[in-house]
Amino acid sequence: MHKKANFVLFTVTVILLCASFFLPNAEGNGVISIKISRMKSGLEQLLESGLDLKKLSLHLGSRIKGDKNTTVPLFKFLDYEYYGEVLIGHPGQKFRAVFDTTWAYSWVTSKRCSSFSIPCMLRNKYDHDVSSTYVEDGRKFNHTLGFKGFFSKDLFHVGQVNATNQGFIEMTELPLSYILSHADGIVGLGFPEASPLAKPVFLNLYTQGAINKPKFSIYLNRDRTTEKGGSITFGAYDTSHIAKNTSVTFLGITRKYYWEFRMDRIVVRKGIKERVLCKNGCNAFPDTSSNVIAGPPDEIEYINDAIGAEEFFFGRYRISCDHIHKSPFIKFSLSRKNFTLKGADYVEQMTYGGVMVCLSAFAANTIPGYQDRWILGGAFLSRFFTVYDFNSSGNYQIGFAPINSNITEY
Ligand SMILES: *[C@@H]1O[C@H](CO)[C@@H](O)[C@H](O)[C@H]1NC(C)=O
Ligand SMILES: *[C@@H]1O[C@H](CO)[C@@H](O)[C@H](O)[C@H]1NC(C)=O
Ligand SMILES: *[C@@H]1O[C@H](CO)[C@@H](O)[C@H](O)[C@H]1NC(C)=O
Ligand SMILES: *[C@@H]1O[C@H](CO)[C@@H](O)[C@H](O)[C@H]1NC(C)=O
Ligand SMILES: *[C@@H]1O[C@H](CO)[C@@H](O)[C@H](O)[C@H]1NC(C)=O
Ligand SMILES: *[C@@H]1O[C@H](CO)[C@@H](O)[C@H](O)[C@H]1NC(C)=O
Repeated sequence: MHKKANFVLFTVTVILLCASFFLPNAEGNGVISIKISRMKSGLEQLLESGLDLKKLSLHLGSRIKGDKNTTVPLFKFLDYEYYGEVLIGHPGQKFRAVFDTTWAYSWVTSKRCSSFSIPCMLRNKYDHDVSSTYVEDGRKFNHTLGFKGFFSKDLFHVGQVNATNQGFIEMTELPLSYILSHADGIVGLGFPEASPLAKPVFLNLYTQGAINKPKFSIYLNRDRTTEKGGSITFGAYDTSHIAKNTSVTFLGITRKYYWEFRMDRIVVRKGIKERVLCKNGCNAFPDTSSNVIAGPPDEIEYINDAIGAEEFFFGRYRISCDHIHKSPFIKFSLSRKNFTLKGADYVEQMTYGGVMVCLSAFAANTIPGYQDRWILGGAFLSRFFTVYDFNSSGNYQIGFAPINSNITEY
């Protein structure tokens, strides 16, 4: 019990330490841009607090009832780093949302969530009773990871435009592992095929005429000297974030669920030998909600071995900070073009009990049934700008371009 009290105190402190976020801005002409702020992830906060992580992971794992496998939510929630602001209802209630390419539904913590629930206690809660634009739905939502809630409809205000009658979930139960996340909810950027009970926000913005073009783009910035985490632009893509003299490489979507596409191969150099992973091509999708690059466990083990990283905790690997500049390039081939990451891109520097530690961004994909997928998180997306084109004639495509690293503005 004493330990639990400490843990709650720690979490409250974490929340209080959170940096404030920025207000969205409007650009007019059917294009809107939402500023994304970068905050210390739960993982970073945990490391800095110097807690015994092995004990903590056991403690958390044993307390999560009903979670079949805690690895996935834990490592995802620990890694949340980028947030934008949304207002829901009228008058608008303010929430800190993760714009997440790996969730289909949008959701927010509900006022109906028990006040004894620790994960609910710590975040802003939506109250439909005080919103004049609320429309009842009431269908239940039940997720194996421990999320429960019900559907509602209300106005979503993003980047100074509104989507009316937006379907979303009011969460009334959150898994305990969610305690480490700072988000009040999620704006789902997955496919309508994956969210049959509520059309995604980006689609409503388009069909309701708030944006002119059926596309959005994401720019993430991992520069630790600033809280400016990047931006998400709906209705267009902002070419100022693309490196000079490069263009966007577009790929077709192979499965309309998340933004899944076919990757040709990955090439890693170890010593003088080059090894090809994802040999005959593989499926991959972007993940804006985590910094990790996840892949099949054996291939991830190979990469971590090649870059000299060793297993640390929570399935993450540690690498000597002196090795970053000697670390090999890792080439992701998309549509026969190389998208190359260097050590500084795939190594995260954090402090642990006052000492600098460096973590490899490569972690095994442990999602049951999905272990053959490559999930490209922040370590990849903060080097490569992404364009999401949901062309109304059904030609969905995703585009990648190197980021213009001279621009660190939103
Ligand atoms: C959009 O929603 C906000 C927040 O509820 C509200 O203040 C504003 O008047 C709405 N704008 C329009 C054009 O409906
Ligand atoms: C939610 O799912 C769990 C496990 O899949 C099940 O035990 C429970 O009865 C479900 N609850 C509702 C309200 O459907
Ligand atoms: C871009 O390409 C043009 C024409 O090929 C060249 O003159 C210019 O120097 C290039 N700019 C950069 C930044 O490489
Ligand atoms: C991409 O990288 C591979 C492996 O190093 C190399 O053989 C190939 O020539 C590169 N392709 C381009 C277009 O640079
Ligand atoms: C979680 O799933 C992964 C992969 O399926 C497995 O290796 C691991 O042992 C599981 N953990 C638990 C606690 O069941
Ligand atoms: C959809 O994509 C096709 C082929 O790429 C293009 O010809 C068409 O103009 C696009 N339509 C819209 C509405 O963007």
